[in-house]
Amino acid sequence: MTTRRPTEELEQEHRVIQQVVGAMAVLIEKLESGKEVDPSVFTDLSEFLQTFGDKCHHAKEEEYLFKLLEKKGVPVSGCPLAVLLHEHEKGRSLMADLKLTSATYVRTPNAGKEALIGTLRRLIELYPAHIWKEDYLLFPMAEKLLSESEQKELSAQFAEHEAGIGVDVHHGFEQLAGRILEMICGEAATCHAA
Ligand SMILES: [Fe+2]
Ligand SMILES: [Fe+2]
Repeated sequence: MTTRRPTEELEQEHRVIQQVVGAMAVLIEKLESGKEVDPSVFTDLSEFLQTFGDKCHHAKEEEYLFKLLEKKGVPVSGCPLAVLLHEHEKGRSLMADLKLTSATYVRTPNAGKEALIGTLRRLIELYPAHIWKEDYLLFPMAEKLLSESEQKELSAQFAEHEAGIGVDVHHGFEQLAGRILEMICGEAATCHAA
């Protein structure tokens, strides 16, 4: 039985996302220097960002934490919620771009490389700044606003949400993140979290 607070759980997920974003920076270097890239890394990256990043992590934030903060008086149209929601939408649009540009790159590397690198760069720009706002602004604010019972209720909602995605979504996606790091960086020491 976990005793983590819901914001700690989200912060821990941020660390896994940051590792994968760090690997994406190494992936850009490989693409730019013309090194061979295993095409399966793009499928794994899309699966990680879409299922772990969006369906699990962003959904827990939007459907439960943001809604609860709104109930507690934080305006959904103001700072920081509107900015964060907009960034989640931007992330979704970039994930669609990643699927398209990586498929083109796999088919025709020369024609598709620049567009793929552009998409990866935009993802790398988006995530660290988004995560910073949540770790240092949103979560401390939530800690001040939410009571112990609200925190417990939120943890239960998070657990229920994850159960709806699949059994042990964390373990599965931490393993997938490890595989992505290994494929891109070889020895983990050469990859730095973003
Ligand atoms: Fe977020
Ligand atoms: Fe987040």
